[in-house]
Amino acid sequence: MSATGTGERLLDIRGLKTHFKTDDGWVHAVDGVDIALDAGETLGVVGESGCGKTITAMSTLKLIPMPPGRIVAGQILWRGRDIVPLTSDEMRSIRAKEIAIVFQEPMTSLNPVYTVGDQIGEVIRQHEGLNKKQTLDRTIEMLRLVHIPNPERRVNDYPHQFSGGMRQRVMIAMALSCNPKLLIADEPTTALDVTIQAQILELLAEMKSKLGMAVMLITHAMGVVAETCQRVVVMYAGKVVEEAPVRELFRNPRHPYTQGLIRSIPRIDLAAVKKTRLEAIGGVVPRLIDPAPGCRFAARCRFAKGICSEATPELREVAPGHKVACVLA
Ligand SMILES: Nc1ncnc2c1ncn2[C@@H]1O[C@H](COP(=O)(O)OP(=O)(O)OP(=O)(O)O)[C@@H](O)[C@H]1O
Ligand code: SF4
Ligand SMILES: [Mg+2]
Repeated sequence: MSATGTGERLLDIRGLKTHFKTDDGWVHAVDGVDIALDAGETLGVVGESGCGKTITAMSTLKLIPMPPGRIVAGQILWRGRDIVPLTSDEMRSIRAKEIAIVFQEPMTSLNPVYTVGDQIGEVIRQHEGLNKKQTLDRTIEMLRLVHIPNPERRVNDYPHQFSGGMRQRVMIAMALSCNPKLLIADEPTTALDVTIQAQILELLAEMKSKLGMAVMLITHAMGVVAETCQRVVVMYAGKVVEEAPVRELFRNPRHPYTQGLIRSIPRIDLAAVKKTRLEAIGGVVPRLIDPAPGCRFAARCRFAKGICSEATPELREVAPGHKVACVLA
């Protein structure tokens, strides 16, 4: 596995399959995914809605509701140790302290009846073994770190007293409060307006440079990946279809799906001089119930031919660190 981070291999997801039992059959939400991430690295995981990004992240923290979900195959090596067989108690020591997650909608992740100070404090108290005063000091320090004005007072406020952007800052403070080695940010800016989105991405970059954790940034926005990540994994219909260092991916996208995603990035520079139309990818992500063999992108691919439906293309390395799952590559 190639990775551009400088440190140890933190996460190594190998052949992960997470499926859900439904009345219509098994949903193959994540279906043979390999993702590796090194200490200090920023990895983008990109793909349209329903491609399996969140389920990959939730599997990594073992937050999948089981049933109906099940990790049916694969390993999730966290610093060399497979966490798939771990119990909830064993996972508790990894969550927050080693791997933390920030979700898209901070209002649903924060409890409305507790102050933000209590909620951040609870995470710190559970994992760091600090007393009340030390916990409060640390909570205020974390709020200050994420640029919440007047943290000594704000620590006593409830989630609804914060704006959307400020709530996301609180969530980031909570996630980073135990100094995790990996922060998974699942669409951390999608629910926010554009200016606030940029501020939150800036904050994540600042936190990364201050605290040095690795980041897995999940997004459907290629533009966000281009600005923030070192390496990118492109997911489609429960599988990784392409992986490359970010510059290489934008310079030389090899999978027709990635090419489509890149073509659909809004070009502000061009829009200013002439009317340009976004080239969206026609069609939708297929249903993932008991999928047929063959390339899952075939129904939307303008290069599809007979062989594409016969067997699922393997992810193969086509250049150093650049992998593609397409018969054309
Ligand atoms: N509890 C569940 N039962 C059945 N199917 C599920 C369940 N949870 C998720 N899925 C399915 O798993 C697939 C992957 O979902 P996932 O949430 O990982 O997508 P995503 O890439 O994160 O999309 P988005 O960009 O919309 O967040 C989807 O087809 C979804 O319908
Ligand atoms: S394998 Fe075939 S259908 Fe799939 S992306 Fe490549 S050319 Fe298109
Ligand atoms: Mg998601």
